[in-house]
Amino acid sequence: MSSNELKVSKIKEGTVIDHVNAGMALIVLEMLGITGTEGTVATLSMNVPSKKSTKKDIVKIEKRFLHRNEINQIALISPNATINEIKDYKVVNKFQVELPDVVIGFPKCINPRCITNAREPPKQTYYVKSINPLKIRCKYCNIDMNQSDVVKQLTKFQGLTK
Ligand code: CTP
Ligand code: ZN
Repeated sequence: MSSNELKVSKIKEGTVIDHVNAGMALIVLEMLGITGTEGTVATLSMNVPSKKSTKKDIVKIEKRFLHRNEINQIALISPNATINEIKDYKVVNKFQVELPDVVIGFPKCINPRCITNAREPPKQTYYVKSINPLKIRCKYCNIDMNQSDVVKQLTKFQGLTK
């Protein structure tokens, strides 16, 4: 490692979400329900140089391993992210996030009249039409949603999406 490369502590056990789209780290934390007040140990790097693209974010979370649905949610806003599972300081598992052809249960449909926003709704279901830029189509009302529609639903960091 040359002296001008980024140096951030390695983690002992947990998950490193690497190659996150630049500027999306806080959104990733929000999606994972991490606010900081629960005591999670996490390290963020935002807009740092990357070999694969010009800039990236990195999210390191101690003592947390992600479920498939959490990984799919990250894929919605950061299709090139890699998940690195760390045990005893070593990367024991590395894989790309992958957006399935059909996304179920998240996000909310932006059409207020959609049946998924009614009482006793069926689970949200979207067909993925394009990954980058993101375009998903509601199975029930056919409306298309993009990445900013998804990010806007994450209330805390709405200011970032302007
Ligand atoms: N990492 C970490 N703690 C560890 C091991 C790795 O925080 N104990 C981080 C590294 O800093 C890096 C990511 O996990 O951001 C992946 O580690 P590694 O596979 O060693 O790095 P690269 O080979 O550079 O990854 P890639 O090829 O996926 O870019
Ligand atoms: Zn709909």
